[in-house]
Amino acid sequence: MSQSLITMSYLAATILFILSLSGLSHQETARRGNYYGMIGMAIAIIATTLTLNGTVNAYVVLILALLIGGAIGAVAALKVEMTQMPELVAIMHSLVGMAAVLVGYANFMETGSPLVGAEKTIHELEIYIGILIGAVTFSGSVIAFGKLSGKINGKPLLIPLRHWLNLGLLIFVIGLGQVFLEQTETGGGLYPLLIMTFIALIFGVHMVMAIGGADMPVVVSMLNSYSGWAAAATGFMLSNDLLIVTGALVGSSGAILSYIMCRAMNRNFISVIAGGFGTGTGEAAAVEGEVYPIDAEETAQLLLAAKNIMIIPGYGMAVAQAQHTVNEITKLLREKGKKVRFGIHPVAGRMPGHMNVLLAEAKVPYDIVYEMDEINEDFPNVDVTIVIGANDIVNPSALDDPNSPIAGMPVLECWKGGATVALKRSMASGYAGVGNPLFVLENTRMLFGDANETMQAVLKALQG
Ligand code: TAP
Repeated sequence: MSQSLITMSYLAATILFILSLSGLSHQETARRGNYYGMIGMAIAIIATTLTLNGTVNAYVVLILALLIGGAIGAVAALKVEMTQMPELVAIMHSLVGMAAVLVGYANFMETGSPLVGAEKTIHELEIYIGILIGAVTFSGSVIAFGKLSGKINGKPLLIPLRHWLNLGLLIFVIGLGQVFLEQTETGGGLYPLLIMTFIALIFGVHMVMAIGGADMPVVVSMLNSYSGWAAAATGFMLSNDLLIVTGALVGSSGAILSYIMCRAMNRNFISVIAGGFGTGTGEAAAVEGEVYPIDAEETAQLLLAAKNIMIIPGYGMAVAQAQHTVNEITKLLREKGKKVRFGIHPVAGRMPGHMNVLLAEAKVPYDIVYEMDEINEDFPNVDVTIVIGANDIVNPSALDDPNSPIAGMPVLECWKGGATVALKRSMASGYAGVGNPLFVLENTRMLFGDANETMQAVLKALQG
């Protein structure tokens, strides 16, 4: 394949990736964005493969790897539940990190490199940094996977003097880099590289273990960003422009997303990365008070009497797969002349945009779906709020209990409206593991049961 054709293909793939990212930022265009990304990736793989000039054997190995990797990816995508998506994303990030480490070692061991002088030093630096970022991404993502899937305790592990320990490790790794560069002059360097890899793996584990359960959304997007930088570093090692650009796109968009998540949760980005957030300094206040249960029939009566209705979906709606029933109820209420809107918290569910994806899947009209900032002021005008399987995102203690693990996180302030009906199966806490005083307020009613079953019962009652 001629060089100019490869350059053209890389350019086309880059443009498609940018279009893909911009498409993914809106629900209406998200599907199109996905297609752009898929076409871009297909072009990128074909163009890169054709640059290889390898033997037939090399192509056979490549095709086999593509088929095996593709089959594993397809099976995982088909089998995974929507609620397990964040874990899947975390484990995928770990693979990007591992690939950067492996490519780094392969590059280091390749003896036939024609590079000399400054170029050789730069190449070795690329290898060192690539392996460093890759190893942190790999071990950090594995721990994130463990925490998100509940295999590892979500509580932050806070080693005494941890910030000093991290700083010490960073200085040591920089010094080790100097030793590595010196030793590569005489054909050595493997030991400093191995020691650095080990330290980077430990650092990744320590970094994510120190982050509290309530801050995991930031960790997921931060690791997304790291995986992009690891891919960019791999691009430098392989002198592949497309991989550098693609990695930088993922890296910077992940960093922006992390920043947005931090702002949404009122967290300081650096403090989250340094760990220890989500702990509070004392004991969170226990929740005490009377619970007022309600049944589906009474809930339907409340809705029929209301003019202005807000629906707040949370993780439980995803678990119950109640979005289609919710859409049916929304349609019916709107036909009856009610104003129905959805309030979406930025970290509702278990991944960015989780609720938007579910509502879009159920074909809820986009123009009645609002971000938290757009509607929070409007709750005093709301007659009835239906909270579907949400807990942390409607917890008033985030605003008034400084010891709560979610203290300072903005929440949907539904208690400022008329009545609130909360749908969940029990009085159990949510992801952050804290009690919710909303559920014992006088104007809150609890509709217990699986959210899809209770919503279906409400729908039936509304249909009369
Ligand atoms: P949660 O606080 O986790 O609350 C979900 C509630 O849904 C639970 O209290 C549970 O109560 C209920 N539930 C579960 N299955 C149900 C079912 N089948 N039917 C009815 N209810 C059901 O969720 P949230 O309010 O959406 O808040 C999200 C939390 O996840 C935040 O703490 C956030 O920081 C964290 N997080 C978010 C992300 C992103 S990026 N969005 C990533 C990781 C973590 P019962 O057991 O009593 O039913």
